Amino acid sequence: MAILKIITYPEKSLSEPSTDIETIDETILQLIQDMGETMFQESGVGLAAPQVGVNKRILVYNSRAADPEDDETEQQFAALINPQIIEASGSFVSENEGCLSVVDFRADVKRYETITVRALDVDGNPLEFDARGLIAVIMQHEIDHLDGVLFIDRISALKRAMYKKRLFKSLKETETS
Ligand code: NI
Repeated sequence: MAILKIITYPEKSLSEPSTDIETIDETILQLIQDMGETMFQESGVGLAAPQVGVNKRILVYNSRAADPEDDETEQQFAALINPQIIEASGSFVSENEGCLSVVDFRADVKRYETITVRALDVDGNPLEFDARGLIAVIMQHEIDHLDGVLFIDRISALKRAMYKKRLFKSLKETETS
C-alpha cells in the first residue's frame, strides 16, 4: 500500500492518451489499490492512472460521492478498467469543477447530462451502467484524462490563458525563491 505522487499540469504525459489494459495482473491490482488510497488521501472524488504517471486506461472513483447522506469516513472506491462512454445525451454546466492535477484552479465546464459507460471491473468482467449528475461528471472528467484531455481544455481560451499565466508566474517564483 502506498500513497502515490500526483502529477500536475503542465507535465506532458497528462496530455498523452493512455493504452488499454490487456491483462489484469497483480501489478495492476496493486496500482488500483494505491490509486484508491491516494484519491482519498487527497480528498478527490476520482483519479485516473495518468495522474499518477501511468498512461494506462484505469480510473478509480468514490462511488458514493453523489450521496451526501453517507458517512465520509467510510472510504470505498470503485475501479473501472478500459472505460468508455458509449452513449451521451443532454448537457448541463458542471459548476466549479477541479482536478488534483490542475493546481489551485476551478471552473465551470459543460458536460453531458446522462451517459452510458462500458468498462471492465477488477475481475475482468464486462459491465455497463448509466450515470447522471455528479457521477456522470466524474466519469467524463476521468475518461478525459485517459484521452489526454484536462478540464482546462474544455473551458474558454481566455480563461485557460489566464490560468496558465498565473500558474507560470507562480512556478517561476518558486524556482527563483
Ligand atoms: Ni482530474
